[in-house]
Amino acid sequence: MTTETMFDAIRIAKEKLDSEIADGPLFPTVTPQEIRSYLCSHYDFSTPGNVNEIGADVERMMRSWHVQVTHPRYFGLFNPSVTLASVVADTLVAMHNPQLASWRTSPAANEIERHTLSWLAGKFGFADTAACFTTGGAEANLSAVAVALTKSFPRYGGKGLRSLHAAPTIYLSTEAHHSFNKIAHVTGLGRDAVRRVATDHDLKMDLADLARRVEEDRENGFAPFMVVGSAGTTVAGAIDPLQDLAQFCRSEGLWFHADAAWGGAAVLSPTLKAHLAGIELADSITCDAHKWFSVPVGAGMFFCRHPDAVREAFHADNSYMPHAHDAVADPYTTSIQWSRRFIGLKLFFSLAHEGEAGCVARIEHQTRMGCLLRASLKRSGWRIANSTPLPLVCFTRDGLDVGKFLAALQRAQIAWMSEVRLRDTPAIRACVTSFRTTEADIAWVVGEMNRIARTKDRYET
Ligand SMILES: Cc1ncc(COP(=O)(O)O)c(C=O)c1O
Repeated sequence: MTTETMFDAIRIAKEKLDSEIADGPLFPTVTPQEIRSYLCSHYDFSTPGNVNEIGADVERMMRSWHVQVTHPRYFGLFNPSVTLASVVADTLVAMHNPQLASWRTSPAANEIERHTLSWLAGKFGFADTAACFTTGGAEANLSAVAVALTKSFPRYGGKGLRSLHAAPTIYLSTEAHHSFNKIAHVTGLGRDAVRRVATDHDLKMDLADLARRVEEDRENGFAPFMVVGSAGTTVAGAIDPLQDLAQFCRSEGLWFHADAAWGGAAVLSPTLKAHLAGIELADSITCDAHKWFSVPVGAGMFFCRHPDAVREAFHADNSYMPHAHDAVADPYTTSIQWSRRFIGLKLFFSLAHEGEAGCVARIEHQTRMGCLLRASLKRSGWRIANSTPLPLVCFTRDGLDVGKFLAALQRAQIAWMSEVRLRDTPAIRACVTSFRTTEADIAWVVGEMNRIARTKDRYET
C-alpha cells in the first residue's frame, strides 16, 4: 500500500469517525464489572478469531465505554483531538516498528526526531541543546530532575543521595503538576523534599515566598537545587513569572526547569508567545506534543541546555548494543528509555503536512474559542475564577453545587468539564482542547448551562 492510498483510507475512516463522535454521546455509562464480565465471556483466547469481527467489537467498546476526548464538546484535561497526519504517522510507525535506541539501527528515524526537536528548540530560544521525545510530560519532568540532581551534586550519580551532606529540596508552586511528587518519590528525594510555594492572586508563583523558602531551607541545612516554573498550570492555565524565576535561579545557583507541558505550544503563536518570555533562560523545558500540538498519546519532549549533564545522567556502558556512530550519541545513552518507539514522527508528519502556519492557526482558533467561552459565560452572569491568556476557563456562580451541576451536564451529554478547587473554592474547569470546537458549540453549551443553572431543582435531582 502506498502512503497515498493509506492516507486516503485513514482520512475516510477518520472523517467518518469524527462525525459520528461529534453526533454521539460523550460520556459512557458502564461499570468495571460489566466490562470485565463481557471480556471474560467473549475473550478467553482459546481459539483464533476473525479480524473484522474483533476490530468491530473493539471499536464498539471504545465508542460506548470511553469518554470521547476528540468530541468537540470535550473541554478536558489537555487530551486533544488529533490531526490526520499524526494518525497516519503512528500507523506507519507501527508497521515499520523501528527501534530508536541506537542511531545505527534507525538512522532516518533518529535524524527526523533530531530535526523536529531542534526546530522546536529554536522556537524556545534554545540553541545547541540536548533533546529527546518522551512518553509524556511526567517522563520529561523526571528527566529534568534526574539531570538537575546530576549536575548539582557530582556524587549523586555514583554514590546516591545518601552520600550528600544535605538533603536536596525542590521548589514549585502549589499549582504545579503533581508528577513532581511522584518524581521525588522515585528519585529517592522523598516527597517531603517538594516545597510548595505560595501563589499570588492570579495563581502564579509568589517570588517573595520562593525567596523566603529557599533562604529558610538553607539556614536549616537543606540543599535547594531546583525551581520549577509552570507555563500553563494544569488547573488554571497560570503562567509563572518565568523571567523573574530565571533571574532568581541564576543569582541563587539553582536549576530552572520550565514545565510547559501544555502551554509550550503557545511559543509558536505570534499573539501568545510573549506570555512565555523567560522560557529561553531555562535550564530545561518539558513540552508535550500530545497536548496542544494535537497528536496522539504518548508524545512528550524534554529539552536541556546542558548536554554534558544529560550524558552523565543517562550513560549506559555495555557490550551488546550496536556501536555508536562516532559523531552521534545513541538515544539510549542520553535519555531514560532504552527500547524506544519512533514517537517524534507524529509531530514531524503533522508539522510537515499542515506547515507551521497551519499549526498556529489551530492554536489560535482554540485560543479564540477560549476567549469566546469566557466572554459568553461572563455575559450570562458566571464568575470567572482564573486569569490566563490560554484557552482554559474556570468559573462558578453563587450558590452553585459544582458536583451536582457537572453530573447534570453529564446526564444530558452536554459537555465534559471537570471540578477543580481554586483557593479552596470549587469551580468548573473547561479547557478548549479540541481544534474541532466551534463558535456554535460554545454558544450551545453556554445556553444549556444557563438553562440548567436556572432550573436548580433539575440538576439537584
Ligand atoms: C503542567 C503539566 N505538567 C506535566 C503533566 C504530565 O504530563 P503527562 O500526562 O503527559 O505525563 C501535565 C499533565 O496534564 C501537566 O498539565
